[in-house]
Amino acid sequence: MKALTRHDPGSRWEARLVRSAHPVVARVVDAAVSRRGVVRLPGVGVLVADPEVARLVLTDADTFAKNGPGSSGALWTPVLGERVLLNMEGPDHRVLRRSLSDLFSPRAVREVCDAATGPLVSAAASRLKEGKDLDVVRLAREVAAAAIGVVVGLDPDTPPSVLLEASDAIESMVGWRTRTFDDAAVARARAALAVVQDAAESAHAARASDTVMGRLALQGASLDDARSLAAALFLTGTGTVSSAFPRIAGQLADAGLLGTAGAASCDVDDVVAEGLRMTTPSLATLRRCVRPTQLGGVRLGADDRVVVLLWWATRRDGGFEPGRPATGDLRHLCFGAGSHFCLGAPLALAELRMMTAMLLEVASERGLVVTSRSAARRVLVPRYAELTVRVEHPRPAAQVAGSAGAAGAAA
Ligand code: HEM
Repeated sequence: MKALTRHDPGSRWEARLVRSAHPVVARVVDAAVSRRGVVRLPGVGVLVADPEVARLVLTDADTFAKNGPGSSGALWTPVLGERVLLNMEGPDHRVLRRSLSDLFSPRAVREVCDAATGPLVSAAASRLKEGKDLDVVRLAREVAAAAIGVVVGLDPDTPPSVLLEASDAIESMVGWRTRTFDDAAVARARAALAVVQDAAESAHAARASDTVMGRLALQGASLDDARSLAAALFLTGTGTVSSAFPRIAGQLADAGLLGTAGAASCDVDDVVAEGLRMTTPSLATLRRCVRPTQLGGVRLGADDRVVVLLWWATRRDGGFEPGRPATGDLRHLCFGAGSHFCLGAPLALAELRMMTAMLLEVASERGLVVTSRSAARRVLVPRYAELTVRVEHPRPAAQVAGSAGAAGAAA
């Protein structure tokens, strides 16, 4: 296993984003897991930063549950209802997961991307080619919101800010110490989600096979299930994608891969896979220990809280290096593992692929430079507040060479 990396610029920026998002907790956790991959932290739970043990916890749902008292699933139940995957275990979870297996099929993902994200990404490419600054944080937020808007059946004329404000409002209600929502918080969260759930309700009623909610209705999902799932997809799919892309752009810049030669040498799928490993937007996930066991030499009892530190676990493979094969336990670990493995991974990958391909294409023609960036402070999902890029060469290298040749011929 490689050592934790802190010294290359990309790793330093990642550490800065995490510390800016969680100034106290990140330092405490860093110190706790600096020597051991599994450690008990009084008042917090058993921390797991070792990728092998992390995978073991996530794939053993009989011992480590996502529902029940004190779990993250239980936090969301009063807001979202009982049946939203992330608060379910066992046969009910399996049956619901199976019924949703086609929700993000390659075709469904293509439809969502074509309808929602394609035009935004093309407009961003044009903006760059005109020599203007592009804030990739803004782009990623708009793309993520537009995609989720299509998934939940939102009217396409609704401005992305409506969803983004709702997502920010709910994110700001959750911190590391949040174990339950009081009645006022539940009411606030439900109010913020109304825009999503009302859209889902209309799409469910229309029963059209070309919408995600329509397909759910045609599969026999009840209106309550559709409303709840729409809210869950919105909560899980907005902040994660919009955090990931600017961080991948930052990794490319820090690795010197946004110059023309560097960008031309990159394979977009390798960049997205390695970029997701490096950034791991879902910093951590929680489990409740169901029965006495032990992990990496630490003994656990029933109802012990296990904090699977996904971001810390993925640090174990060193700095950003697109194209190197992912090692076994780290493979796709940023999307979790086992029965709760990210349902929206195909959609997330497609959105990230589209934005990354655009960035690499412009960069390989004209080179890109980061003109400014700053870390967001005290947010649940670590992210840049802003990361702006601009082309290095106003015209493509080929065009410059071509016009020089033409000028030479004329002379
Ligand atoms: C880069 C983007 C994303 C990342 C890093 C990510 C990460 C994760 C992780 C780590 C889990 C597992 C949590 C656990 O085991 O406790 C998860 C679950 C989930 N994700 Fe994602 N996610 C992303 C995007 C999305 C998108 C776009 C959607 C949907 C539109 C989505 C929907 C879900 C759902 C519904 C679950 C719960 C699945 C279950 O409990 O069975 N995610 N995600």
